[in-house]
Amino acid sequence: MGKKIFSGVQPTGNLHLGNYLGAIKNFVNLNEDEKNSCIFCVVDLHAITVNQDPKKLRDNTRETVATFLASGINSKKSIIFNQSQVSAHSEAAWILSCTARMGWLNRMTQFKEKAGKNKEKVSSGLYTYPNLMAADILLYLADLVPVGDDQKQHLELTRDIAQKFNNDYSEFGGKDFFPIPEPLIFEESSRVMSLRDGTKKMSKSETSSMTRIELRDENDLIIKKISKAKTDPFPIPESIGELDNRPEVKNLLNIFSSLGEEPILNILNNYSGKQFSDLKNDLSDLLINRLSPIRQELIKIDNDEGFLREVLNDGAIKAKEKSEKNIKEIKKIIGLG
Ligand code: TYM
Repeated sequence: MGKKIFSGVQPTGNLHLGNYLGAIKNFVNLNEDEKNSCIFCVVDLHAITVNQDPKKLRDNTRETVATFLASGINSKKSIIFNQSQVSAHSEAAWILSCTARMGWLNRMTQFKEKAGKNKEKVSSGLYTYPNLMAADILLYLADLVPVGDDQKQHLELTRDIAQKFNNDYSEFGGKDFFPIPEPLIFEESSRVMSLRDGTKKMSKSETSSMTRIELRDENDLIIKKISKAKTDPFPIPESIGELDNRPEVKNLLNIFSSLGEEPILNILNNYSGKQFSDLKNDLSDLLINRLSPIRQELIKIDNDEGFLREVLNDGAIKAKEKSEKNIKEIKKIIGLG
């Protein structure tokens, strides 16, 4: 049976290989299955939880949509839209923030990481951000959410919120109202790590761009970044078990495996005993082979403002139609209006 799929990406610029392998590549596959109904959202309301330059935010929103399309998501088969254009997201976020418990939000590790020692100075939106994410998903009654591993805890919170809402209002039409959404996380690509430190996630916000492959990187730059990627002094092993405590090597193999859709063991069979430079050369070729068509398409689409506006307008109309129907139901259950 087909699934109702929802996922989102923040328009904060520098979209990278982690975003592609952890999320966007999987969106493309899910979108190709005719049975699924897919909604992919550029979550600009999430982006403003930290300071944004308004002009850059608008450009990055366009760029994120262009990346979805360039990667192969078909806007005729999926709904692609911009979160802030559909006001039911903000409304549902408020309602669900009254279901979510403080203790649940207090456990969110991403807030702790992002706020760091600055807890008193960050926006309150950064703290309540997971309520908005739950609203995004539940507003469309989605049952499957493709994400990278870093979003797993937010998904667990979304499930808790859905369950509590259904229980709290079970006598008022809320019983089983929200499906309990499942995360869809693919092992090899769920945590693409920094090219310079295999214990840290590849991230948009890391200051050095040498830590990540960006989707706009030219071929020469991809070769340079991979050739400079950290490895270790030991030989390429024969078995997966020997990869423990070798995070950088494991990361390169995971990237190879998920990009080439080939089991890690096959790759080890090909490279064990060989030089890292052999593995890196082939990995660069594979990256160029997969990413350069996306980059070329991205540049083309990003320049076509009319087309992007059309995709976003069309997506917003469809997203509004679905979300307004559901928010009405939600309000009726609660006794609002
Ligand atoms: P965001 O914008 O940080 O990242 C977008 C997607 O990319 C994945 N990702 C990674 N996957 C593997 N390795 C990495 N190094 C890596 N870095 C990022 C993320 O897991 C994510 O799937 N809160 C979300 C956006 C969001 C959302 C939603 C997602 C808002 N509402 C509803 C799903 C459903 C975020 O900040 O993702």
